[in-house]
Amino acid sequence: MTAGHKIAGRAGPVAGPQAGAGGGTVPRHVAIIMDGNGRWALRRGMSRTRGHRHGMEAVRRIVREAGDLGIEYLSLYAFSSENWSRPAGEVRELMGLLKLFIRRDLAELHEANVRVRVIGRRDDLKPDIRRLIEESEALTAANSGLNLIVAFNYGAQDEITRAVQDLAGQVKEGTIDPAEITAAMISQRLDTAGVPNPDLLIRTSGERRLSNFLLWQCAYTEFVFVDELWPDFTGATLRAALEEYGGRERRFGGLAAKAAP
Ligand code: IPE
Ligand code: IPE
Ligand code: MG
Repeated sequence: MTAGHKIAGRAGPVAGPQAGAGGGTVPRHVAIIMDGNGRWALRRGMSRTRGHRHGMEAVRRIVREAGDLGIEYLSLYAFSSENWSRPAGEVRELMGLLKLFIRRDLAELHEANVRVRVIGRRDDLKPDIRRLIEESEALTAANSGLNLIVAFNYGAQDEITRAVQDLAGQVKEGTIDPAEITAAMISQRLDTAGVPNPDLLIRTSGERRLSNFLLWQCAYTEFVFVDELWPDFTGATLRAALEEYGGRERRFGGLAAKAAP
């Protein structure tokens, strides 16, 4: 593979938020709902499956771009807990694509200092996929570059439910007093424990909903919706979204900076 096809160009540790090339602030954590693969393919007279394959090329492009931009965390929604309701052939293809991505790109991601983390429910995935996920996390655990978070068999309601089950178990054992449960204790039990909340969430394909992605974590996230279908998503689309984000004022329930006394 030539350098031009490298999946992530940046090997060093990154710190954010930080000034980007254009002087704006680069969000520390960008989350993307990669939507529209099926429509992209159908518009070209192709099978939905082909759309997912093209979508994977966009993933490789955007991982590289995010590293170059100095984004610290990139979360990609790849397969939702509700996507099991799709036809069996499509589900099989999406499972196969995760395996292909790990088998083909893991060495390169590691070389680029990317740390891989997969969020979502593991226990109903096939053992070979579980093994590949564990292998990718173990190999890259000590890396200090881009944190790539892949949401696979992920649903936020399922994630929160599992956290609640864990807390309830501890209450039952008598190690936690229900009155002392805090938001932080819930965060620590989510799959994203230790990861800062997304600053920016991008959804492609013109849909304007969360579809069960990072419900807890997106409490104060800025949303950017783009009409492009995921396989058409480029570095330029990402940079435009960052620019839009740069123009937003985040208040976290407080007052605008200029309104403060
Ligand atoms: C996103 O593309 C990928 C997954 C949900 C796995 P879709 O497959 O949802 O494509 P559309 O929305 O049907 O066009
Ligand atoms: C969200 O897209 C899930 C992923 C991108 C993996 P969907 O296409 O499944 O969402 P809905 O069904 O349109 O809400
Ligand atoms: Mg969709």
